[in-house]
Amino acid sequence: MNIIVTGGAGFIGSNFVFHMLKAHPDYRIICLDKLTYAGNLSTLEPVMDNPNFRFVKADICDKEAVDKLFAEEKPDIVVNFAAESHVDRSIENPQIFLETNIIGTSVLMDASRKYGVKRYHQVSTDEVYGDLPLDRPDLFFTENTPIHTSSPYSSSKAGADLLVLAYHRTYGLPVTLSRCSNNYGPYHFPEKLIPLMIIRALHDESLPVYGDGLNVRDWLYVEDHCKAIDLIIHNGKVGEVYNVGGHNEMANIDIVKLILKELGKSEDLITYVTDRAGHDRRYAIDPTKIHNDLGWLPETKFADGIVKTIKWYLDNESWWQPIISGEYQNYYEKMYGDK
Ligand code: NAD
Ligand code: TYD
Repeated sequence: MNIIVTGGAGFIGSNFVFHMLKAHPDYRIICLDKLTYAGNLSTLEPVMDNPNFRFVKADICDKEAVDKLFAEEKPDIVVNFAAESHVDRSIENPQIFLETNIIGTSVLMDASRKYGVKRYHQVSTDEVYGDLPLDRPDLFFTENTPIHTSSPYSSSKAGADLLVLAYHRTYGLPVTLSRCSNNYGPYHFPEKLIPLMIIRALHDESLPVYGDGLNVRDWLYVEDHCKAIDLIIHNGKVGEVYNVGGHNEMANIDIVKLILKELGKSEDLITYVTDRAGHDRRYAIDPTKIHNDLGWLPETKFADGIVKTIKWYLDNESWWQPIISGEYQNYYEKMYGDK
């Protein structure tokens, strides 16, 4: 089985590459990644010499490069993680989100059609459903919740989702789609809430909490997401959407306080800053379908996963230190300098 994994040098993609090489030692995994600011080849170091692994640096929007790779590898399955993924960056500059997230998806699906790929899987997000009110804890996103996006990021992901379903209906491309809640765990790029707060707290730097800090996200340990995708590409029904989430809703401020407690740091580091424009209030996934149809259940409880994650960042400074000393610092100044 040959599987092309795009965006495999990023957070979830790299965890998926590790998972697949371990869970399916007879599969060949080909990672296609442009290595944007969010892609990090050092993450894939442990598998670079694995004979069942190949890394190719390319842009998913580059038709020629994608065609050449598909011609060489004749993939059975394509799993598309490659995306611009940070909401705040999408507010600053939407264009690249439209290019990578929508055009890139169409390039990959055109190649998948041409080379007769047996399964094209699109990794999407619960953010395509928009948000839920804080005072209606009875409401959850199901696969039938209407698409109703708030940010350029979520709009670009929703555009890609619609295109994926259209390629199935129009061309019969065998697609599946998963919409997952917020992930956390190792190799999470330190511009996102959890790694940002861990690393800044370690340096006794202020922790910028947007708005009132009461926005709720539904957190899932990254390994559980990887296992869900593994199940969907093997057993999921073509043309179907699967929501992935573990019923683990947390307010941002409670996560920040938990991180401070684990690290033995003072809550005085918390600084409330100007809210994100269009900030979604609450995300909450109903995972009934993937549980009933495919038997998936999350294995890692948040209380354990967050401790494991904090320990990983403490033990792997050599991974994140080069990231925060480079382009990322300029980015931080730009995003938070005047907040
Ligand atoms: P990430 O930003 O950490 O990684 C993205 C990867 O894609 C990087 O390696 C980057 O180099 C690569 N990439 C970007 N543009 C590319 C292009 N044009 N061509 C080839 N490669 C390119 O993202 P992530 O958090 O790992 O998210 C992966 C996927 O999962 C995304 O599609 C995202 O929308 C989705 N998702 C993420 C979360 C989350 O909590 N992080 C939750 C649900 C869904
Ligand atoms: P983020 O990790 O960017 O994921 P997403 O926006 O895709 O859910 O943010 C998670 C939550 O944390 C979101 O409600 C915004 C908030 N947040 C902060 O309060 N401060 C920060 O510095 C960041 C990056 C996020």
